[in-house]
Amino acid sequence: MPPSFTLLHPDKERPAMTQPEPSRIRIFDTTLRDGEQSPGVALDHSQKLEIAHQLARLGVDVIEAGFPIASPGDLEGVSRIAREVRGPIITGLARANRADIEAAARAVELAEKPRIHTFIATSPIHMAKKLNLEPDAVIERAIEAVQLARSFVDDVEFSAEDATRSDWAFLARIFRAAVDAGATTINVPDTVGYTTPREMRELFAFLKGELPAHVILSAHCHDDLGLAVANSIAAVEGGARQIECTINGIGERAGNASLEELVMAFHTRRDAYPFESGVRTRELYRASRMVSRLSGMPVQPNKAIVGDNAFAHESGIHQDGVIKARETYEIMNAELVGREAAVLVMGKHSGRAAFRKALTDLGYEVDEDRVKSLFARFKDLADRKGQIHADDLRALVESRSDVP
Ligand code: KIV
Ligand code: ZN
Repeated sequence: MPPSFTLLHPDKERPAMTQPEPSRIRIFDTTLRDGEQSPGVALDHSQKLEIAHQLARLGVDVIEAGFPIASPGDLEGVSRIAREVRGPIITGLARANRADIEAAARAVELAEKPRIHTFIATSPIHMAKKLNLEPDAVIERAIEAVQLARSFVDDVEFSAEDATRSDWAFLARIFRAAVDAGATTINVPDTVGYTTPREMRELFAFLKGELPAHVILSAHCHDDLGLAVANSIAAVEGGARQIECTINGIGERAGNASLEELVMAFHTRRDAYPFESGVRTRELYRASRMVSRLSGMPVQPNKAIVGDNAFAHESGIHQDGVIKARETYEIMNAELVGREAAVLVMGKHSGRAAFRKALTDLGYEVDEDRVKSLFARFKDLADRKGQIHADDLRALVESRSDVP
């Protein structure tokens, strides 16, 4: 059944539906770990710290600050964040071996809320070709890793790398073993961005039935097929209560699920999804600009929520609608994500209503006859120039070239 658009189009005839209390979705931000694995991105300590402080302001639940064994610099970067950033849980990634886990433990030692995140691959291809281990040996390694991590911290996350290409019964076995060994969060990565929303929903529903209720199930989706956000939402529908994501969706290859898209999907469609994150949406745009500036990765103009065009209207029909009522073509306000109000872009598709408004906004009082003659000139100019800026409009009015 299609969901109703309760917020924007109230249907007074329909009896009010009682909404259940929204469930809390934990936001696990991995911009500083998986995001930093984007080809060409390398953040220094102070840049990482600046982003971590913004993530704390944003209100994420977990910051994955790095992969401490990767280099002495990464270890120091994670421990600085652990020492200085308060609010979110701070975690570091570790493969399922002693050296990695000890490095992660050292790095998060001084965190207010430390977590160790350890992982091992579980798909047939990874176990045979990469790890060269039999499935039972992989389970043994997972148990030892989780037990070792638990000897340092109370909060341990276990991930099965390439989970979505793994055998489900094997996944249930290794996850049960990890939980028995002390893991508190179980993460299911779609490491190569291969799964689909239906598969993800069914996998989480299956795992939920296999694991004790106190375990937090988590989804970690990559975007190789452009499905990372849809797959994360499907995981939540199946029972996930933590989603792992990055600012601007940056990350290995095609990137990870985009934090701002997920948060705004849940926020905007509260009627369809009874879930809420603790994220302060007004900090989203600032976080996006900061990550783009410090990582050197530009945000595509048509990127949802944070792209330059995400709240820009160009066609005359849309501009006219937005002038009459913003909700005609806006499902959320730009201000809600910390941006300035939506802009009407003046170009050859713009209509007279938007043109008149642009002149008024620039402080010109122009009568209807003059609007008409200026509008014809504006269209000629737009055909030649594409986008028209405020200075073009000023020149148009002040040159009086339309006045006989
Ligand atoms: O994509 C992946 O499998 C990961 C894990 C290490 C969590 O990033
Ligand atoms: Zn990943």
